[in-house]
Amino acid sequence: MIQLQNIKYSYPEGTIGLDDISLEIEKGSKVAFLGENGAGKSSLFLVLNGIHKPQKGKYVLDGKQFGFSTTERKQMAHKVGYVFQDPDVQLFAASVYEDVAFGPFNLGLDKKDIEIRVEKYLNLLSIQDLKDKAPHQLSYGQKKQVAVAGVLAMEPEIILFDEPFAWLDNRHKHIMNEIIDDLNKQGKTVLISTHNPDFAYEWADNVVLMKEGRIIASDSPVKTMCNKVLMQEIGMELPLVVQLAKKLGLKNDSRSIQSLLWEM
Ligand SMILES: Nc1ncnc2c1ncn2[C@@H]1O[C@H](COP(=O)(O)OP(=O)(O)OP(=O)(O)O)[C@@H](O)[C@H]1O
Ligand SMILES: [Mg+2]
Repeated sequence: MIQLQNIKYSYPEGTIGLDDISLEIEKGSKVAFLGENGAGKSSLFLVLNGIHKPQKGKYVLDGKQFGFSTTERKQMAHKVGYVFQDPDVQLFAASVYEDVAFGPFNLGLDKKDIEIRVEKYLNLLSIQDLKDKAPHQLSYGQKKQVAVAGVLAMEPEIILFDEPFAWLDNRHKHIMNEIIDDLNKQGKTVLISTHNPDFAYEWADNVVLMKEGRIIASDSPVKTMCNKVLMQEIGMELPLVVQLAKKLGLKNDSRSIQSLLWEM
């Protein structure tokens, strides 16, 4: 379980990234983070992964307080995988293969096991054909897939996806959806930041709405995303399925257009 208490994080030049964040996340849950540009979603993920050390507050993971020391940060990076919003920040090795191998290598796996892991996750993402390419030769969407493979290859318990569908074509969006479902089925905790209300409404167990570095609501998709006032606060439309059900005068709690159609 993740527990954050009164977390405050300001960037070195003074901008407030997170302002008094308190949040609990159950093990194995699916949590979507919504909010306008600059609301603090990525800043929050960077704290959760141990990259940003908050100036105030407490971060407790599985009952143990995280102190942000160099050793703890290294351990944290293995426990909490973070797929950055921008893959250019994540990828650095000379080839895709080396990039995906970096995490397993740092876990201390031997050569054979590293090879098995890399092959497994390149296959999972359906990007085996890219393995000898240099990351800078790839398209943006391909870079994102390599970044995902690199994080998953460390097999972390908690995975933070920052805008996982951005730049992906339909086929790879589909693959990403299946991967995310599968991770949850394995009991992993998955946190996703997204600007897509329809995805969040259908997928999440819990939704966190953020504005100006604060959490303005954290509850079930129905309690957060059917609330017009809250959604307006974060500059977002209600999910399409909610709008459609209202327009049709249906009292309906379908979480996707597809399930709404089935029930009609
Ligand atoms: N490296 C940085 N240095 C200074 N300020 C930053 C930095 N990164 C983010 N910020 C600021 O911190 C605040 C929160 O930004 P953050 O990137 O967490 O938002 P976000 O919700 O992820 O937005 P987006 O939807 O655009 O990804 C913003 O005011 C932003 O300008
Ligand atoms: Mg962001």
